Amino acid sequence: MARSVAMQFLSPQDILALYRTHGQLRYTGEPVSHLTHAWQCGQLAFFAEALPQLQLACWLHDLGHLLSDLAETPSLRGHNDRHEDLGADLLAHLWGPEVAEPVRLHVQAKRYLVSRHPGYRAKLSEDSLRSLALQGGELSPDECLAFEGTPHHKSALLLRVWDEQAKQKDWFAASRHEALAHLAELMTQVPLLHPSQAPCTAPTRHQTVLELTRA
Ligand SMILES: [Fe+2]
Ligand SMILES: [Fe+2]
Repeated sequence: MARSVAMQFLSPQDILALYRTHGQLRYTGEPVSHLTHAWQCGQLAFFAEALPQLQLACWLHDLGHLLSDLAETPSLRGHNDRHEDLGADLLAHLWGPEVAEPVRLHVQAKRYLVSRHPGYRAKLSEDSLRSLALQGGELSPDECLAFEGTPHHKSALLLRVWDEQAKQKDWFAASRHEALAHLAELMTQVPLLHPSQAPCTAPTRHQTVLELTRA
């Protein structure tokens, strides 16, 4: 599987490098860059005293957008980039399910909240509404029950609520350096599953994207 090969090439340092070099990319129509959105989501989890694993999941929940090479609003092109799975597969290899699964479920959590709480739809941003349709829209009652039985779904729901709040212009403003330093420090609080296997050689982003699109 070319995708899993590519995932194994990425280390925490590679993730930091992705946000350092591409975090300035913006969603069209949203007032935040990818780095600002990630920072705000992580900060909301921090202020809520979430465990470091969930804080890290919040920080990195949209990492898959940066990996997919379609970071600038794929929904505008009518494309579902499956960013939740791209990011979760990578994070599972590094930090395990407590970080990866809330990320994998954050799209499903949006579909669940829209289905179970009709007022939630009004809280969605323009891009979230656009992507909701591409992601399958509302869940059926049976799908809602299945979601409620999924491990880590409660963390995914928390992440999802913070995700929607983390699109504020000039809110929790931090310099790129400050935000990345915070992320680097948070990464040290969550043990790597296989620290001795963490690769030191980072592929270029272009190489990674080629591997992903070949999968
Ligand atoms: Fe997302
Ligand atoms: Fe997000």
